[in-house]
Amino acid sequence: MAERPDACDGKQASASIGPVSNDSLPVDRPHAGELSGDWSKMGATRRAKITAVGRYVPPRVITNHDLAKRVDTNHDWVVARTGIVERHWVEPGTPTSELAAKAVDDLLKNRGIEADQIELIIVATVTPDMFFPATACIVQNKVRATHAWGFDVSAACSGFLYSLTVGAQFIAAGVHDRVVVVGADVMSSITNPDDRSTCVLFGDAAGAVLLEPSDDEEFGILDYLHEVDGSGGEFLHMPAGGSLNPASHETVDKKMHYVHQDGQPVFKYAVRKMGEISRGILQRNGLQSNDLDLFIAHQANLRIINAAAEKLGLDDQKVVRNINKFGNTTAATIPLAIGDAIDDGRLKKGKLVVFAAVGAGYTVGAVLSRWAY
Ligand SMILES: CC(C)(COP(=O)(O)OP(=O)(O)OC[C@H]1O[C@@H](n2cnc3c(N)ncnc32)[C@H](O)[C@@H]1OP(=O)(O)O)[C@@H](O)C(=O)NCCC(=O)NCCS
Repeated sequence: MAERPDACDGKQASASIGPVSNDSLPVDRPHAGELSGDWSKMGATRRAKITAVGRYVPPRVITNHDLAKRVDTNHDWVVARTGIVERHWVEPGTPTSELAAKAVDDLLKNRGIEADQIELIIVATVTPDMFFPATACIVQNKVRATHAWGFDVSAACSGFLYSLTVGAQFIAAGVHDRVVVVGADVMSSITNPDDRSTCVLFGDAAGAVLLEPSDDEEFGILDYLHEVDGSGGEFLHMPAGGSLNPASHETVDKKMHYVHQDGQPVFKYAVRKMGEISRGILQRNGLQSNDLDLFIAHQANLRIINAAAEKLGLDDQKVVRNINKFGNTTAATIPLAIGDAIDDGRLKKGKLVVFAAVGAGYTVGAVLSRWAY
């Protein structure tokens, strides 16, 4: 591969216990070695393309007015500062795997394939059903993907793009022909309903895409660019429940099991990085902003999306914005936005699209793709 100049600073990499709800019927398990995938082809180089999208958004709508009944906020403030009008929350106790499995079911229906044709399931989430087993395992069981293996990726709002990049490697390497990448989060399960600075921001949802090999080099995932800046971890995190602060009465009393965010530094970093990473991936592919047909950014704040679009000099029509309907659904925002852009006719075969995200970590990602269907 030709060497490219670095476009941005930083370190980049290119390119329910109780028992797990087991309402499932007994399934015939393949024996070890019978999983799908041709590992003998490892080392081949193929382009991955997205061939289908699936979505699931829980039906319960929470408006800004609803939230204003509980915390000291108001509709106008939330709209002006974030662009969010409403978000969807699950009924309490609904796990991430349930949303993810419904998004995968939708994906399978849209592609017209069966669950046993999936070879790998990658779930991006910061709200796994539980620490272990991985949510990917629970989803695999729920959708009866009997020939798939899988794992979770934790990269917060960049999780979907990190997972897309990881999934594309298995296609590129020739190992797998059908990889499902899911972004799913139940943010309402880790948001303090009494904290006005965070409870207005987040929603629950899941989105999934199917990756398959592209038979045309021109179409599919063309490039990727990722960064981590761990010095930003303190500004957006969930302090308790892990090995540092195992759950205790004290951590619960101190509300350490909820999202804690210092909004301003996160905002400033996101504005800077979203523009930088997007410009960077275009530059190193010899492209200008006006070559771009569509910009699909992680939906955390309308002002962040608008600032990035402005830096790139993009017309309104080229920027996908749906934060008004869903809020920040963390790993799910980009697949939900992909689905909306397909629905409104802006994303179709041949369109050049940049996906970009900044999230807790800090994590940063951009993926360049020529839409393949
Ligand atoms: C959270 C965020 C919307 C807050 O907007 P902001 O313009 O930075 O607002 P500030 O935090 O400076 O707060 C401004 C004032 O509004 C108040 N405020 C905060 N939340 C409020 C709410 N829901 N309703 C009304 N007032 C609110 C603050 O208390 C503060 O009041 P003060 O000036 O009296 O102290 C913004 O910082 C943000 O979007 N940050 C990044 C979020 C993000 O992207 N997170 C995910 C990363 S992927």
